[in-house]
Amino acid sequence: MFEEITINHTRIAPALFLAPMAGVTNSAFRRLLADFGGYGALFTEMLSASAFLNERPDESTYTKRRDCEGAVIYQFRTSGDENLEAVFEKMTSIPHTAIDINLGCPAPEIQQQASGAALFRDFDRLKAVLTRIRRCYSGTLTVKVRLGDDAETWRQPFIERLRLFEDSDIHAITVHPRLSTEKLKRRARWEEFPWIAAQTKLPIIGNGDVCSRKEVEANRTAFEPLAGLMLGRIVAVKPCIFRDFAGLPKLALDRAEIWDRMYRYTLEDLPPERAFGRLKEFSFYFAKNFVFGHEMFKGIQKARTAEQVRLEALRFLETQPSLRADEGLAFT
Ligand SMILES: Cc1cc2nc3c(=O)[nH]c(=O)nc-3n(C[C@H](O)[C@H](O)[C@H](O)COP(=O)(O)O)c2cc1C
Repeated sequence: MFEEITINHTRIAPALFLAPMAGVTNSAFRRLLADFGGYGALFTEMLSASAFLNERPDESTYTKRRDCEGAVIYQFRTSGDENLEAVFEKMTSIPHTAIDINLGCPAPEIQQQASGAALFRDFDRLKAVLTRIRRCYSGTLTVKVRLGDDAETWRQPFIERLRLFEDSDIHAITVHPRLSTEKLKRRARWEEFPWIAAQTKLPIIGNGDVCSRKEVEANRTAFEPLAGLMLGRIVAVKPCIFRDFAGLPKLALDRAEIWDRMYRYTLEDLPPERAFGRLKEFSFYFAKNFVFGHEMFKGIQKARTAEQVRLEALRFLETQPSLRADEGLAFT
């Protein structure tokens, strides 16, 4: 499964994607993943269409892309009130594999700005936004969605939006099968993937709670109809995990060295005061590798500077802490 996917004539192999994660999938994190490989394409964090216009593409951690990363998909959130024409014009100077529109983010502050799940809900606005984008951008365009708002009635609106995506020349759809009202605690509804994939000829990339190749194989019926697979939080826990999914040889891992490398990469791309929050966020996930990972995170919580975060993290990691069993890594 997931050997390759073709999105608008571009072959991506393997068909394995890093999920967009605000605060996590910045340029330093993507550089770390590039050291290990095994993925097909990496998503950026969600970029605000209006803020993007003020970024310096090759300096900002939001937009910077290194050649070693390979295929990178830039994700935007928009309500349509921004100068989208200028956004897409600016993107012509940044090498990218695709541009993705976030139609799934349920965060209240994003929905209040008519973006994310709120744009998915508002069919007329969504149609107007996609029409405008298609007038100024003929390149590869993808979307990332949740199921909708209501457990009983999401299917019909979902089908209507699939038709809109087909008519708008969208090239692939990532589906994170939760409702817009559901937090990450409730399990993703993998069992809906076959129904969703059967409704459209567009490639469907499945996402949500996948932590191991073993569980994908154990749920073959759910995953087989998908054209691609997207991994999110588990990649921050195990930055080498794409190698397992891609069947690449296992590496001998020095987790203290990996954490420290992430520290160096982050400090290369961000001033210490901005690196601080990113390192804490990364460490929150990385700590889940260990039986006593909460001790590592507790120490880091007390840190007030990036350098203190490093001292706390390494103090824990250099004791060769015991690893948790894979099964213990499930997020729900
Ligand atoms: C910290 C964090 C930030 C996220 N930011 C984004 C984002 O910017 N854009 C987006 O489409 N989804 C975002 N998501 C959702 C993920 O892309 C993904 O759909 C979700 O985490 C489920 O996948 P997983 O179980 O593999 O992590 C975020 C999730 C997390 C945990």
